[in-house]
Amino acid sequence: MSRGRYIALEGIEGAGKSTIQEFLSAALREDGFEVISVREPGGTSTGEGIRLLLLEGDDMTPWAEALLFAAQRSQLAVEVIEPALQRGAWVIGDRSVYSSLAYQGGGRGIGIEAVRKVNQAGLGSTWPDLVIVLAVDPEAGLARQDGEDRIGGQGVQFQQRVAGFYAELAAAEPDRVVVVDAGGAVGEVTERVVDLVRGRW
Ligand code: TYD
Repeated sequence: MSRGRYIALEGIEGAGKSTIQEFLSAALREDGFEVISVREPGGTSTGEGIRLLLLEGDDMTPWAEALLFAAQRSQLAVEVIEPALQRGAWVIGDRSVYSSLAYQGGGRGIGIEAVRKVNQAGLGSTWPDLVIVLAVDPEAGLARQDGEDRIGGQGVQFQQRVAGFYAELAAAEPDRVVVVDAGGAVGEVTERVVDLVRGRW
């Protein structure tokens, strides 16, 4: 059995990641693959506990935030993602280490490379093969957001900053990180994403 593929959906608030996750998973199942969906922060019992701290807890330092994201991600990688990949399943993530690079490394200003290193330590080779950044206008995204959390409630300027860091990540790793226009109707965006994935493999 060959190793599965790990695809991460990324983007700022209200980009439509979870909707696209459902449609992409359905399309890949039609192609005959086993597909599992994961979301971050969370996806394991430990990770859901950390999620509460991160999204509903008190303010924390940028590094405390980055390390908690990395901690829940390491748990998810070992418990769920890596075993799935090893049995040949495809994993579709609603967010991934690339959220930490853009939000904590970039948005919070602690440095993309530093955040990449700590995450790499906890992930080993469980790293996304393809990262699809769903690009929306920050104002439109915030208007579409369903319920605000500690990080999603930072305002439009923060979203704009994070969007800029996603663009930087795509420019730095063009083979892995691809920006897709997510501004149109759900059907159109789904088609773009599904075509991208089917075209790649
Ligand atoms: P979530 O409820 O999953 O929302 P969304 O629909 O926006 O994805 O909230 C996740 C929040 O955590 C979101 O504001 C982005 C932020 N986040 C980070 O800052 N760093 C990370 O590594 C991850 C995974 C999420």
